[in-house]
This record gives sequence, structure tokens and C-alpha cells, in this order.
Amino acid sequence: MNTIYADMTEGIDRKLMQKAGDILLSGGLVAFPTETVYGLGGNALDAEASRKIYAAKGRPSDNPLIVHIAEFDALEQIVTKVPQEARDLADAFWPGPMTMILNKNDSVPASTTGGLGTVAIRMPDNEIAAEMIRAGGGYIAAPSANTSGRPSPTTAQHVKDDLDGKIDMIIDGGPVGIGVESTIIDLTEKIPMILRPGYINMEMLRGVLGEVRMDPGLHFNDPNFHPKAPGMKYRHYAPKAPLTIVEGPQDRVVEKIRSLTAQKESAGGKVGIIATDESAAAYDRGIVKSIGTRTEEITISMHLYGILRDFDDLGVDVIYSEAFDTPRMGQAIMNRLIKAAGHQVIRVFSAGGMDVKHYDKLIFVSESDTITSPMAEAILSRHFLLEDILILSKGLVVLFPEPINPKAEAVLVSQGLTMKDHMSDPLDEADFDDRTLILTITNAEKERLLQDFANPINVFSLSEYIRGEGEVHDPYGGSLGDYGQCFRELDAQVERLAGILQREELN
Ligand code: TXA
Ligand code: MG
Repeated sequence: MNTIYADMTEGIDRKLMQKAGDILLSGGLVAFPTETVYGLGGNALDAEASRKIYAAKGRPSDNPLIVHIAEFDALEQIVTKVPQEARDLADAFWPGPMTMILNKNDSVPASTTGGLGTVAIRMPDNEIAAEMIRAGGGYIAAPSANTSGRPSPTTAQHVKDDLDGKIDMIIDGGPVGIGVESTIIDLTEKIPMILRPGYINMEMLRGVLGEVRMDPGLHFNDPNFHPKAPGMKYRHYAPKAPLTIVEGPQDRVVEKIRSLTAQKESAGGKVGIIATDESAAAYDRGIVKSIGTRTEEITISMHLYGILRDFDDLGVDVIYSEAFDTPRMGQAIMNRLIKAAGHQVIRVFSAGGMDVKHYDKLIFVSESDTITSPMAEAILSRHFLLEDILILSKGLVVLFPEPINPKAEAVLVSQGLTMKDHMSDPLDEADFDDRTLILTITNAEKERLLQDFANPINVFSLSEYIRGEGEVHDPYGGSLGDYGQCFRELDAQVERLAGILQREELN
């Protein structure tokens, strides 16, 4: 197939836009720019067009597509009901980098939604995209326009590299502005749930919706936990060379990457380094690329996928990257980077200028120390490999010692675990020392702890420490089923924690 290349970097070309519309209306495929990444568009209401998209990308067809619209009113035609939350979100963030999941009606073919009864919808904030959607009938299914398993495309050249000859047209609108895919928010859940983090972050969504949660399935490494967005389970965004992220205090990160690079190079390896404008000059070996500046985080998200592609082209043997926990988009950026790294993360610490090998003691902290923290203690204690760490649980508000909550105990027993003679115990100022790691179960508990104590050190929330994305929900007052759910959430997080603690010992 001859792929038409339509240059619209200087503005929309009416004739070519008409042509794009004709291609889409007759079931063909057109790649186009959006504000997030380039999309591969086909008529969303045409089952055959969706099948072509899967074929061109080499993508599993159980992975549903996002339907792109250009007018809010288009929404009503494809869903069973437009809830008030959807109107509020659209008012706040559309057109923009946010995708909503709603219940679909019969006009959307099963091949577009991978057989699901729900549909993902987004109105992109890009003039070329909006015009093309209108010209193509108003409903354009579009995954990122890359070959499945490669980093998403952020320039038309990336699209060409992957799909030239396999699709009808590529519209070039210049490099994208955001660089990571849209935030996906599921409105079919009782509490709206983020299925994929993006530019529109949790705080912004909470500002509109009130309560919002992160899909607990985004926790990695646990075969019992599946992310709700089918696409999040695949090994995405993988560069050809193994990628390792190094995180910790900046000077220690640079030092660690320098020594890893020296080691690898002296063994004859070709090393790629992902640095920033601030740090690039600190590396004297390896192929160093700056991803952007830490003072403007969008420059980092914008170049993330491109830099991974660059290293593919350079044929490096390994890639080392700094971590980018930027304030607004850190979650979205690190979600993609960690996936690209297949979860290879090395942590370095600042204690006395040397890596801390391991802690002697770990204390899980919850508010009352009767439910979540003793459960976490029981779960982690099952990992015999950690037997040289003393594992305890304590509480922030413990007026008198109490046994573990009976429902929490019942759930533990059903999982073959017990809490022999556990009594709640108050956290004490003397608990903070160099060799003790303190993990609160939730972020709110961490904030409270930091307020209540004079000299807290080594304090993290559990999800922060494991780089998870969800929070464990306190089941207090709920049914046994809620306690079971809490156990599964904790189990997923603690599983990851165990892996990290073991890695730290080995580093
Ligand atoms: O920014 C974006 O959203 C880009 C641009 C092109 O708009 N598109 C994009 O599409 O990232 P794609 O196909 O690469 O990712 C779609 C994600 C997948 O993880 C998929 O599993 C999820 O959305 N998804 C789609 N429909 C869903 C549904 N009904 N329920 C749950 N997840 C869904
Ligand atoms: Mg994709």
C-alpha cells in the first residue's frame, strides 16, 4: 500500500483533509496528531475498520480502542446515558488529554471495544484531529499509531518508521505537546477510578468529582491483580535494550549511573544514559541524552518516548535513566518509564554517602493498629527471605491495647495467616532511627505522623515506597467482603515491597 504523507505542519490543507475524511468514511486508516501522542484512526462504528487497526498495529484484538469525538453532543449517540459527572469532566477538561469510560449502546461494534459493554471516549485538543474527526464521520477509533510493543509515536516520523506502507495516510502536525497518552477515568465504577495516569492528574480530577481512586490493578508483579484497562497489562513501550532506572538523591543517582556505566563500558558494552539539562554535563562516559529540564516537567513527558526510540536506533546494549518524580506529571511519566524498564529500578540512599544495605527493622503504621498495619505485618512476615528484618506494626492513635479487628483476623486466617496475640501498640518517638524503616499504610497517615512527631526519619507511605499508584482502602465498618478486598490490595503492595527489600539487600 502506498501511504499518503500529508504535511499540515504549516496549517490545515483542505484538499488533503477532504481526502482523509473520504479514506475514513470508506473504511481506511489515517494516522493523525493529537496533543498526547499520534493516533491511528479508523471509523469507530465500522467493525471492519477496527479490525484493520488491530492488524496494522499487530495488536491483540481484546485490547479496546478509544473513540475520538469532536463535539460533546456526539457522546449521547454512543452511550446508554451521559451521567452528570461526564458533563462536569467534559466542561473542565475537554477538549483535552482525558478519556472517559461509559456504558456503550448498540451503535458501537464489539470489535471496537474488545467485546466490552463499556466504551472509552475522548475529545482531543488538536485542531487537525478535530477537523479530521468531523470529516471522517464524527467517531474515530484511535490507538497510538505505533507498532504494538514499541514506544508511542510523538512525531509523524515515528509513525512513518512503524507504519509506512501499512496504512492509507499519515498527517504530519508537528511534534506533540504532552507526549504521554491521555488519563483514563472510569465512570462506570461506584467511585470514579483512574485506569491510566496522564496529564490530567488525580488532584485535578478530585477537584471536579470529589472522591476518585486509582485502579489497584495498576500495582505490578501480582498475577492475581489485573488492571481494568486491558491495555495496561501488556509490556508496553519497551526499548530494545534493557532499561534500568536509578532513583534517590540526585547526586547519588549521578554517582551510581556513572559507576554502572564505567563497569559496563569496561566490559565492552555500549551504554545510553537518560539525563536532564541539569545533569547531562555530570556524565563523562556513555551516550548521554537530555530528556528535558526538571524546571518544566512537560519537556520531560514530551521527549520520553522519542528518547527511547533514539536509543533503539543507536543500538546501545543498556540504558540507564534517572527517575523523574516531577510534582504534576511524575505519576504519569514514571508509570510509562517503569513499564519500559520492566520494573528494573535501583534505589540509592544518602545515608553517610553509602548505600544502605538493608534495614534492621520495619514498622507498618496505621491509625489504630487494629486492621491494616497488623495485616501488612502478617503478610510480609510470610516472606521468610526477610527473616533478618524485624517486622512490627504500630498505631498513631492507640489509647489502650486492643486485639486485631475480628473481621481482619478472619480474613487472615482464611489466607493461612495468623496474628498470634497481636495487641495494638502506639508509635513512639524512640521508634525513629537510622536502621528502621517506617511505612504508613496510607498517605493521610503519613501526613499525620509527620505532624505528630518531632523527629521522624525514614518515613514513607507504603505506596510511595513501592512506587505504586493506588491506596489501600480502610475497610473499617464494612462487610467481610470489604476486608477481603483490603487484604488483596495490601497483599499486592506488600508483595512488591518484599521484592524491593530483597533487591536493596542485593544491591
Ligand atoms: O492519548 C490517547 O489516549 C491516545 C491518543 C491517540 O488519543 N490513544 C491511546 O489509545 O492511548 P490506546 O489504544 O493506545 O490506549 C487505549 C487504552 C488501553 O489501555 C485500553 O485497554 C483502554 O484504553 N481502554 C479502552 N477502552 C476501554 C474500556 N472500555 N474499558 C477499560 N479500558 C479501556
Ligand atoms: Mg498505545
